[in-house]
Amino acid sequence: MQSHGHGQDSAVHLEDTAEPSHVTHQHSNHHNDHDDSSDSGFDSGSLLGDETDSLASSILHHRMENGRQYHAYRDGAYWGPNDELAKEILDFAHHMYLLTLDQKLHLAPLQDPHTILDCGTGTGIWAIDMADQYPSATVTGTDLSPIQPEWVPPNCRFEIDDVSLDWTFPPNHFDFIHIRELFGCIPDWDFFFRQAYAHTKPGGWIEIVEHSVYPTSDDGSMGPDHFYHTWGQVVVEMGRKFGKTFTIWEESAERIRRAGFVDVVVKEYKWPMNGWPSDRKAKNIGRWNQLRLMDGVEGFMLRLLTQVGGWSVARAQVHLAQMRKELKSYRTHAYLPGTVVYARKPMAP
Ligand SMILES: C[S@@+](CC[C@H](N)C(=O)[O-])C[C@H]1O[C@@H](n2cnc3c(N)ncnc32)[C@H](O)[C@@H]1O
Repeated sequence: MQSHGHGQDSAVHLEDTAEPSHVTHQHSNHHNDHDDSSDSGFDSGSLLGDETDSLASSILHHRMENGRQYHAYRDGAYWGPNDELAKEILDFAHHMYLLTLDQKLHLAPLQDPHTILDCGTGTGIWAIDMADQYPSATVTGTDLSPIQPEWVPPNCRFEIDDVSLDWTFPPNHFDFIHIRELFGCIPDWDFFFRQAYAHTKPGGWIEIVEHSVYPTSDDGSMGPDHFYHTWGQVVVEMGRKFGKTFTIWEESAERIRRAGFVDVVVKEYKWPMNGWPSDRKAKNIGRWNQLRLMDGVEGFMLRLLTQVGGWSVARAQVHLAQMRKELKSYRTHAYLPGTVVYARKPMAP
């Protein structure tokens, strides 16, 4: 998908020129065999830093950092670990999206799609479910991490690739492009959406599912001094320093319009921080969210706090412990707001 010789970020060098510029992989387990890294923290300078990757040798490797495992292809590009716990957290979120969308995998009104792209597919759980739901479609999931399962439906395939680079898919190709939780992953969303537009078929759809990282409340129960404010401000600030925003959930509608998509529909949702709501559906989602956050906040923030923010591991752990403490309180009626935004590429330009 990416082209290595030109574009905004071209310094990806292949060790073995026989290797394709993107790699379609079938086996996700192999990366565990290649742990040649030490758990010494991120010590190669900057998380933003070295643009030079060695694709052929490193694609299945990983980096250990403060007890967590991270992807090695485009080392440092992504804030989250890719170990078993991180994968479980992604699958929790998938379950929460199904609860949120009443078991729907998308809201865009697709009609007989043939070509579907899932950008930053993670464990591939959405792509696999989509392939099952649309057996006559080909679903392609791309990610920096080779963490997708080996056994997948025959119409589902995965590629290790950086979606923030130039895409090498054919133009006007996809009936549907899906983006979910790429917050903090994309340096230039307008460039990204322009590419998505170019590679969507006329009449095809795009859908972006994102949520805020800054809790809020409607009833004043999250006072101005609440720790959740500190939490939200810190994540947003880390994203800004990292050069990849966490506020895309409130920007995606405007940005896709700017890229040329039309008939933009925005659906809002709320993820309660725990089971405080009385409404049954909201309570259920909140209980899942509490579990996801209790086990997930370390993976979400440890690298950002230590490598981007320059915090000590000890300071970061105190911050994370405080968050886990707050997550237990049902007195604070806080939630994470989110949006599902979908839109269509016009038939004629
Ligand atoms: C929070 S996860 C979301 C995964 C999936 N979309 C889902 O909703 O289950 C973000 C994923 O994006 C991947 N990612 C981050 N930056 C990327 C990039 N530049 N190109 C491709 N994948 C990327 C990460 O490796 C991770 O798997």
